[in-house]
Amino acid sequence: MPDTKNPSATRRLAVLISGSGTNLQAIIDACASGALPDTEVAVVVSNRRAAYGLQRAAAHGIPTIYHPLRPYRLAGRSREAYDADLAARLAPYAVDLIIQAGWMHLFTMAFLRHYPGRVLNIHPALPGAFPGMHAIERAYEAFRQGTIDCTGVMVHRVPDEAVDAGPVVACRQVPILPDDTLASLEARIHATEHALYIEAIAAELQRLEREASAGEPPRGRGARAGSSAGA
Ligand code: GRF
Repeated sequence: MPDTKNPSATRRLAVLISGSGTNLQAIIDACASGALPDTEVAVVVSNRRAAYGLQRAAAHGIPTIYHPLRPYRLAGRSREAYDADLAARLAPYAVDLIIQAGWMHLFTMAFLRHYPGRVLNIHPALPGAFPGMHAIERAYEAFRQGTIDCTGVMVHRVPDEAVDAGPVVACRQVPILPDDTLASLEARIHATEHALYIEAIAAELQRLEREASAGEPPRGRGARAGSSAGA
């Protein structure tokens, strides 16, 4: 079993990042404050070595995995190989939920099949709006063109390879004000993200526990069962 900060916590998260990690920080803080009770960030994964979120993890004693795509590309290896290796590296951590928090890669089924119903993503726009990169900038521009009057944040499950789409777990509108700059809108959206992701993670952990106590098959625990850590 890899070292973890709080091995007695029964609910375990993997948080996947590519950058600053402000959502990661909100999740770490929520574990510490009890807003996410009996929960720990068991591991943080980054595809970028320079991601500041890795320093946030280290500052809290959380194990990290650096898993870059570039060596796979250089070797002519597939995204499926990259994803399968990531799933194998995560397996010993026996996590309940995979939390994408600014992770810049799309998962293939080579990863997702290990965690059915257990992968969450946050998108800084409303469901169906501005999928892909630069969603906040695109919403700000659409507001200035008069085609939208508000934007939002959503958290959704990731059942397949679709971009920023899947069953919505939580969603909140965010107003765009006439005197907003892009920076002020970004700040409002990020603050909303940090609150909404905690609510969504709490709700999903409760759902998984309800399903487990109702005797449904432990979806996504294949990684746990197959790990050296045991169940
Ligand atoms: C967030 O806006 C998230 O919605 C998007 O990437 C950003 C990550 O920010 N997918 P941070 O690294 O959590 O600060």
